[in-house]
Amino acid sequence: MSETGALFYDNPEVFNIYQERREQNSSANQTLEWPIIQEWLTQRSYPQVLDLGCGDATIAPWLLKQGTQYYQGIDGSARMIELASTLHSPQIRLQQGYIENWEYPETGTFDLVLSRLAFHYIEDIQPVFQKIFQALKPGGDFVFSVEHPVITSNQLSMKQGANRQDWVVDRYFQTGKRNVSWMGGQVLKYHRTVEDYYQSLKNNGFVVQDLRESCPKATHIKDKKLFEKRSRIPLFLLLSAHKP
Ligand SMILES: C[S@@+](CC[C@H](N)C(=O)[O-])C[C@H]1O[C@@H](n2cnc3c(N)ncnc32)[C@H](O)[C@@H]1O
Repeated sequence: MSETGALFYDNPEVFNIYQERREQNSSANQTLEWPIIQEWLTQRSYPQVLDLGCGDATIAPWLLKQGTQYYQGIDGSARMIELASTLHSPQIRLQQGYIENWEYPETGTFDLVLSRLAFHYIEDIQPVFQKIFQALKPGGDFVFSVEHPVITSNQLSMKQGANRQDWVVDRYFQTGKRNVSWMGGQVLKYHRTVEDYYQSLKNNGFVVQDLRESCPKATHIKDKKLFEKRSRIPLFLLLSAHKP
């Protein structure tokens, strides 16, 4: 049976594989997703930050160096929060909690709401985006990344194993639950189209500032073969939006 996102990361086997992968400098996250997040978050400073699905919160010390005064991270996984808690800083607050039902402030509190690679574990993003809009100060930014919808659409190509040569995009407009075998476990993800993410932002009052599909750059991926592989399909979708 598939586990929900947070419980999946609490599985010790999954947790270890995930941490090992994330620490590699050549990981897809480091070379494709992080450079875009970094580019966006260095355009201005964000005194108050909320990070949804923060994982081990490795971004928190980086944000503090950029001028953040207060970082609030929430994650549903007890293991992730335990690891994040080793950061020990009065400016970093961590809480085990779920993105769907965390008690968001109802008035504008945060300059930035960030969420990296967590929303594809959420069944209904509409009410979450609504609460994020309320929790942001006017003029605040909402930045997030998700697994790209061409990847979440279906898992047929996973049958070829880690070295798959082709990717199948199918059931693209049949949004909803996907049971996925990944990192030695079974996890429940939710597929949405690019349009769904875009419309959910617009419907909740956000102004979309930028959209990226993690197009690889040779400066970030030195290995030629890996660069060619990464140039075949988009792995991540990233959106940056603004509360007017
Ligand atoms: C791929 S990891 C990303 C972690 C971190 N944002 C990063 O980029 O390093 C996804 C994280 O989302 C968390 N997560 C998944 N579903 C969640 C939910 N419903 N509420 C809170 N956290 C959730 C998981 O526990 C995991 O730590």
